[in-house]
Amino acid sequence: MELTTKHIIAGGKALARHENGKTVFVRGALDTETVEVEITTSKKGFDEAQVSSVVSPSSQRVTPTCAHVTQGCGGCDWQHIDTSHQSTLRQKIVAESLRRIAKVEHTVDAGPSLPDFAYRTTMRCGITEGKVELNKHASHETLPIPDCKIVHPKMLDLLTNSGFGNNTEVTIRVSDTTGERIVLAETDRGVDLPDDVRLVVTSNRPSGEYITETIAGQEIRCSAESFFQPSREAAEALVEVIQNMIPDDFAGTLLDAYCGVGLFAATVAPNARVIALESSASAIEDAKVNLGEAARIIETKVEDFVCPPVDIAIADPPRKGLDKKGVKAILNGNPSQIILVSCDPASFARDTALLIEQGYALGKVVALDNFAQTSHIETVANFQRATSDV
Ligand SMILES: C[S@@+](CC[C@H](N)C(=O)[O-])C[C@H]1O[C@@H](n2cnc3c(N)ncnc32)[C@H](O)[C@@H]1O
Repeated sequence: MELTTKHIIAGGKALARHENGKTVFVRGALDTETVEVEITTSKKGFDEAQVSSVVSPSSQRVTPTCAHVTQGCGGCDWQHIDTSHQSTLRQKIVAESLRRIAKVEHTVDAGPSLPDFAYRTTMRCGITEGKVELNKHASHETLPIPDCKIVHPKMLDLLTNSGFGNNTEVTIRVSDTTGERIVLAETDRGVDLPDDVRLVVTSNRPSGEYITETIAGQEIRCSAESFFQPSREAAEALVEVIQNMIPDDFAGTLLDAYCGVGLFAATVAPNARVIALESSASAIEDAKVNLGEAARIIETKVEDFVCPPVDIAIADPPRKGLDKKGVKAILNGNPSQIILVSCDPASFARDTALLIEQGYALGKVVALDNFAQTSHIETVANFQRATSDV
């Protein structure tokens, strides 16, 4: 069936309509191009489809450099799109989420320039018969022995030159700064790794095994089990965008909510008094090292914390966003400025609506290219309290 697409929506697919008006979400298409598609799923209100051939290509279409894309790899859903257009699409998707969900018309800026390939330093991988396999899109099938173009060279070497024994899944983490490599696995049975690689077998206690990255001139420790941004450059870009939202001489109280290993509190405001909140035990151990003794670091769920007065709050919640409980907890501190970091445009727009409802005005919004070749979008925005003094 032939369709002409309209725009790209959150999640990375192109929106099109059947002749009968039914909505079709097309994977592998660009905005405003004519494509032949195969319907992959048919629901009452919409169909999902995959491009089978391109009839009239967009000028932004490029040939994917990775052979796995045509084999159906579920990883890079945007490798067929020129990288500068990917950036434009990210801005448009965030603006559209704000318009549709928060009912706000707002400009969205591009973030700092980031590498297009060979960037990912943390990856969770499925294992079959001791080897890493990539999942195919919308399928239980896998692709053997990946030659993945977006992972860091130190990671690619590990993916191809290791045996992962009886594991079904491993998490691999490498440091771009030091070259250190860690594999977090379910078992050590049958595992065969290059000599420099440290193996950590999952348990419910932090292992104490970590890598170190240098971000914005600061050494940041990150344990095998802790969250970290997808690459060193992505972490640097986030820090740069947030730093630009905070006055250079800021020396008030900074809340870093969902702080992970303390990346933001360690880098964006050197003279601030820091309160850092995090629920993961291993990230808390890292934050203690990264933020030093002067910081107040609390192992808690953000929504359970009774926040004292703070001047600026940074919040970087997981995909579901702050939600009403997270917003309430942060507003207890009555910050003049809130900097929201989000990995999901829909929850970002929902949280924006909640903050506006509570008297905060949306300031700068930046869509970052932290996950090049994929439709993932990282957004940073700042909000000022109506009677702000920062
Ligand atoms: C998206 S990561 C951000 C980490 C950090 N800001 C960074 O950039 O490295 C979210 C973090 O929030 C933590 N987390 C998840 N739910 C939480 C909650 N309800 N309260 C506190 N921390 C939470 C996770 O363990 C994770 O470290």
